[in-house]
Amino acid sequence: MSITFDSKQEESVQTESMELDGLRSKLIHLYDHNAPRYDNDRSTTESLHYYFDHAHRAVDALIGPTNKRTLHVDMPVGTGRFLFFLRQQNRQHRMVGIDISKGMLEVAAQSSKQNHYDIEFSQGDAFALPFADSSVDVLTSLRMFHLFPHCYWPGLLDEMYRVLKPGGVLVTELRNAARGTACQLLVPGFRKRRKQHPHVFVNPLSIKPLFRRWENMHMQGVGLDALSKIHRFSPVIAKGVDTLQRTTFVRYFSKTMIIRATKPH
Ligand SMILES: C[S@@+](CC[C@H](N)C(=O)[O-])C[C@H]1O[C@@H](n2cnc3c(N)ncnc32)[C@H](O)[C@@H]1O
Repeated sequence: MSITFDSKQEESVQTESMELDGLRSKLIHLYDHNAPRYDNDRSTTESLHYYFDHAHRAVDALIGPTNKRTLHVDMPVGTGRFLFFLRQQNRQHRMVGIDISKGMLEVAAQSSKQNHYDIEFSQGDAFALPFADSSVDVLTSLRMFHLFPHCYWPGLLDEMYRVLKPGGVLVTELRNAARGTACQLLVPGFRKRRKQHPHVFVNPLSIKPLFRRWENMHMQGVGLDALSKIHRFSPVIAKGVDTLQRTTFVRYFSKTMIIRATKPH
């Protein structure tokens, strides 16, 4: 079956892809430039450190069991932080990190070598992943969707769906709009960062329709403000609050929503 566009549709498709090309170049430039200080910038405060550690633990738990034959793609891998975390947890499966920025990949490959981790890194684009259809067991994609306006999200998810095997697991992270609005109003540094690239948030109540084609969808929150301070004061209470953000409406106050979904058989 051939699909035909009328000239107006064709024009809007062309405009969208030109805009995407512009955004892609901007992001490559930004992350190539920021790569050497990316990790340092993200460990400046106790609460940031706590948030990333928490998010990585949550994603690790959601991936489920893996074995030596499991092919796990982390995209965008950035400087490799999440895959390094998994190796530190003794996950032994095959890991491939994909990113569009050569600068980020260079930092990742260098740290990986220094730590003697066996991880492959390769340049690739989220919209055209360098994998055959139905070839990947696990795909993680952390801290990426917010870089792209909503109109691109279905395309990104479709590409992840294409490469996953039936039964394959996707774990991804989306930024909560309620938190985003609060930051926009209250945190001047955040407004400055928003000028560098889009910071696109999502209303947690509108996430489910995005995963219509997927199965076993699960959504939990990570990154409740002040949790790191509560943890310092009482790890037991912090653990209780964390359980609430995994299992109750408290998740809607979290910084990000972590989604796990599987491709149907
Ligand atoms: C906020 S960083 C997140 C990196 C990593 N997931 C982490 O949690 O540290 C966003 C990453 O997305 C990458 N990126 C941006 N556009 C991309 C694209 N079209 N395809 C693949 N990676 C892309 C950037 O180069 C950057 O490394």
